[in-house]
Amino acid sequence: MVSPVALNGMYVILGASGNTGSIIADFLLSKGKNVRVVGRDARRLQRFVPKGGEALTGDMSDAVALTKAFRGALAAYLLLPPITSREDQERQSDAIAKAVKESGLRYAVYLSSYGAHVPEGTGPVTGLHSSEQKLNAIGGLNLLHLRAAYYMENNLAAISMIQGMGIFGHALLPDLKLPMMATRDVGDYAAQRLLDLNFSGKQTRELLGERDLSMAEATAIIGRGIGKPDLRYVQFPYDRMQQVLEQMGMPPTKAAVYIEMFKAINTGVLAAQEPRSQENTTPTSFEKFVQEVFAPAYHGKAVTD
Ligand SMILES: NC(=O)c1ccc[n+]([C@@H]2O[C@H](COP(=O)([O-])OP(=O)(O)OC[C@H]3O[C@@H](n4cnc5c(N)ncnc54)[C@H](OP(=O)(O)O)[C@@H]3O)[C@@H](O)[C@H]2O)c1
Repeated sequence: MVSPVALNGMYVILGASGNTGSIIADFLLSKGKNVRVVGRDARRLQRFVPKGGEALTGDMSDAVALTKAFRGALAAYLLLPPITSREDQERQSDAIAKAVKESGLRYAVYLSSYGAHVPEGTGPVTGLHSSEQKLNAIGGLNLLHLRAAYYMENNLAAISMIQGMGIFGHALLPDLKLPMMATRDVGDYAAQRLLDLNFSGKQTRELLGERDLSMAEATAIIGRGIGKPDLRYVQFPYDRMQQVLEQMGMPPTKAAVYIEMFKAINTGVLAAQEPRSQENTTPTSFEKFVQEVFAPAYHGKAVTD
């Protein structure tokens, strides 16, 4: 049998214009691989075309479009988009699983989250659990679930509050240490595993960032990085956090799904399962993230400095 790695088959990347998919698509193209990039917006996919990428537009709830995308492919990077509603998540994971099955795809890396072992009560992560289950039911598919830590990039949402109110307020406990990782590291890890295709059956790997950090520690690092060393973390009650999310433009039902996740983190329901090891530790420190991503975003958006 010819090793799949030896074939220059097609890779299909869902969410190719996003945080993680774009890194994977660029990496595989740089290795001379055939890459089909998928998203809804053709303009956001266009930048891959001069590098040899094939752009395909389609919605993740469209099983027919996804089946076409996966047919004949060697491997795919699968993810759900950021949650719009729990119902949408189920529709999207149904369509992805149906398309994977009908296309006969043999290899996939699926972007999940830490906490996806828990079947309910974890907000958006509940949809990732359900999606993992649907993919696990597909015989013949070699599947690697990447259960990524809390994104460091989630903290970017606090920029306007820091600028406007001079605090970092959030519902998470101030001193609870949680794994936080840079999305770049998710992309780099997934890209290498897709290149190597060194997994079989159904496997799971948590990715836990460089180290665990509390929100108070993260706030102190942000404060130093943006030249506000006195920046304080303030824990908001859940109802205040719900209001903050709604003021940021989130529909109330979606905000409530996030509140459910924050409660699950605070109560330890949503927590890493693997002991930290070399395999699940990723390189980017929070300090580096603040220097390279947070501070430029903060200063770029700052009205005054
Ligand atoms: N935030 C966290 O802490 C965290 C932690 C672990 C895992 N995750 C998971 O990470 C995933 C998001 O990954 P990411 O950060 O790489 O993505 P991202 O940067 O948010 O980008 C989403 C991508 O999906 C595409 N997309 C959005 N809606 C779509 C739709 N309905 N149909 C087809 N394509 C669509 C977008 O392009 P277009 O808009 O052009 O279509 C874009 O390419 C989510 O499943 C989330 O649960 C998040």
